[in-house]
Amino acid sequence: MADGRNLKVLGISGSLRKGSYNTAALRAAQELAPAGMTIEIFDLSPIPPYNEDVKNVGFPAPVQELRQRIAAADALLIATPEYNYSMSGVLKNAIDWASRPPEQPFNDKPVAIMGASPGVTGTARAQYHLRQSGVFLNMHFVNKPEVMIGTAASRFDAEGRLTDETTRGFVRDLLASLAAWTRRLNPG
Ligand SMILES: Cc1cc2nc3c(=O)[nH]c(=O)nc-3n(C[C@H](O)[C@H](O)[C@H](O)COP(=O)(O)O)c2cc1C
Repeated sequence: MADGRNLKVLGISGSLRKGSYNTAALRAAQELAPAGMTIEIFDLSPIPPYNEDVKNVGFPAPVQELRQRIAAADALLIATPEYNYSMSGVLKNAIDWASRPPEQPFNDKPVAIMGASPGVTGTARAQYHLRQSGVFLNMHFVNKPEVMIGTAASRFDAEGRLTDETTRGFVRDLLASLAAWTRRLNPG
């Protein structure tokens, strides 16, 4: 590790289902993380649908926790499904909640993204929508490699383990880029 710091990465999956390829990709990332990086996965299932009336009374506890975990992380790793050519509503909803002032925690945050889908484009369109929202929130995305895991059923086994060696290599490269990007943006 370049500067002796351990990088804390918060992993966020935009899918709630048990057999999610995207959550499975995050689990693979935990395994493939370089020395000096730890990845914790945040479960979005307790995040309620966004409601400004609720927010005006106070952030619900799960949202508060999400905001704190994002703020405390050195970087984020988001795995987005593609729903109707965009990111999932679950992911957008969580971003919407976490993004509300004061002190929106995405500001200046290094972020890597990836995504998995059974289709051949492997969430490409969803990832560009995610990048678009991230511009407004001043997230700093890793640009390359782009990890778009298409034909996901052939790359994960029945237990949700990422078995495709080429894809494992892409995830490894993405994490190495995230580590370098994070250290470059925030020298220790
Ligand atoms: C509402 C809905 C819309 C979808 N739209 C797309 C799509 O635009 N492109 C795509 O590749 N897959 C699409 N899919 C299929 C998802 O990629 C697939 O369900 C995938 O497994 C979801 O991610 P997960 O495995 O992490 O849950 C859609 C699925 C749902 C439920």
